[in-house]
Amino acid sequence: MPSILLVDDEPGVRSALSGVLRDEGYEVDAVDSGEACLERLGRQAYDVVVLDIWLPGMDGLATFARMRERQIESQVVMISGHGNIESAVRAIKMGAFDFVEKPLSLEKTVLVVRNALRQRRLEAENQALRAKVGAQHTMVGESHAMVHLREQVAMAAPTNGRVLIYGENGTGKELVARNIHEMSRRRSGPFIEVNCAAIPEELIESELFGHVRGAFTGAVADRRGKFELSHGGTIFLDEIGDMTLKTQAKVLRVLQEQVMEPVGGSTRIRVDARVLAATNKDLPAEIRSGRFREDLYFRLNVVPIFVPALRDRQEDIPLLADHFMAMLAREYGRRPKTFEPDALTALQRYPWPGNVRELANLVERLMIMVPGERITARDLAFLDHGIVGGIEASTPMPAAMTQLHDARDRFERDYILRALAAQQGNISRTADALGIERSNLYRKMRAFGIMPARKSEDEEAV
Ligand SMILES: Nc1ncnc2c1ncn2[C@@H]1O[C@H](COP(=O)(O)OP(=O)(O)OP(=O)(O)O)[C@@H](O)[C@H]1O
Ligand SMILES: [Mg+2]
Repeated sequence: MPSILLVDDEPGVRSALSGVLRDEGYEVDAVDSGEACLERLGRQAYDVVVLDIWLPGMDGLATFARMRERQIESQVVMISGHGNIESAVRAIKMGAFDFVEKPLSLEKTVLVVRNALRQRRLEAENQALRAKVGAQHTMVGESHAMVHLREQVAMAAPTNGRVLIYGENGTGKELVARNIHEMSRRRSGPFIEVNCAAIPEELIESELFGHVRGAFTGAVADRRGKFELSHGGTIFLDEIGDMTLKTQAKVLRVLQEQVMEPVGGSTRIRVDARVLAATNKDLPAEIRSGRFREDLYFRLNVVPIFVPALRDRQEDIPLLADHFMAMLAREYGRRPKTFEPDALTALQRYPWPGNVRELANLVERLMIMVPGERITARDLAFLDHGIVGGIEASTPMPAAMTQLHDARDRFERDYILRALAAQQGNISRTADALGIERSNLYRKMRAFGIMPARKSEDEEAV
């Protein structure tokens, strides 16, 4: 509930304003002097302070100045009488939200307070968002490989050099690109990402260079391309190994001449964008097999940066697990869970074919699924299934194991629910239909959180 502190020496004003503000659903306290106001604010935080300018003793303006000195962040609405509008204006210049004049219109005062609260909420959201974005882009890890990677990023960032980032899926290539941008002189410019693998071949040119109206069916209006949008900033060409040779030729031209032409257009547009690129492919091999242009490779590969696989920096795993846990806890508004030492050992033994992204997903799953405050090796038993069967740490595995598990569980749960519905919830008949033991079906239902129908004849049997 939003909280308001009223400061006015007139008892009539205090009671009338408290009344209407409480009716609005706010928690309201009222005091009669600047000294009392500061004393209150020392004990409790208020969202909005409604502060009379004329007060006996310390006046409203002096009180407000003290609040700012003490870095009290409440929004402040001043109440001014006829004689002291200038003071009110001064207060606004010092950062007060607004002022209302005496004689007070209750309606107007409520409106101003409501706006002040909205402003405060926006500021709080903004702050939370900024903290989150900051945390999202920190590169966590103290392993030798990570320290080296951070050094390379710090060295490459301030130059205008093109950087080609190599690494397996989910190792943090995009994170490296964002860090380079944020540490560069272009940081206040745009960071534009293009996933070359996700865009259909016919559309990639228009995506990169834009198009003019009527250039092709469906081009109903002019559209600016990603190169143009990244002017003054950075363009990040992700999965660069997935561009066709034709697109590669056009990208090469932009890199050479710093100009581009929208599809179907005749004007040439000058662009000043720093190009960062990433790939999980072996580009020299792609060049040998004729799928990637060698001249483009040399243009892009000015500074090569290699992001190591997670299994090659196991000492970072506990730090990363804690980092994701803290971030998720903030996001979900829950307390972070702690990893027991045996859980951390299990995490470090797992080969992480999906690298850091897979670890982040797993931590989110644990956040949701583990009921207690502590995560133990038992909560991670399913990871072992990924390792048994002689799969070596360095062998690439089919898609992330945890995803496969999830998909299978979802499918199985759904399948059982359908079978139950078809048998009107009768467990024996459902078990028959599925060709499994009744006790087995019960176990699965419990595991998937499916409640047996109340009137089922075998309700008590397990
Ligand atoms: N060192 C790190 N510290 C903190 N978070 C990281 C780190 N490395 C990666 N991440 C996080 O892991 C996730 C995957 O990283 P990112 O998308 O940068 O990887 P990628 O190499 O681009 O993956 P893909 O090849 O699948 O595109 C992101 O959420 C990223 O923030
Ligand atoms: Mg990526």
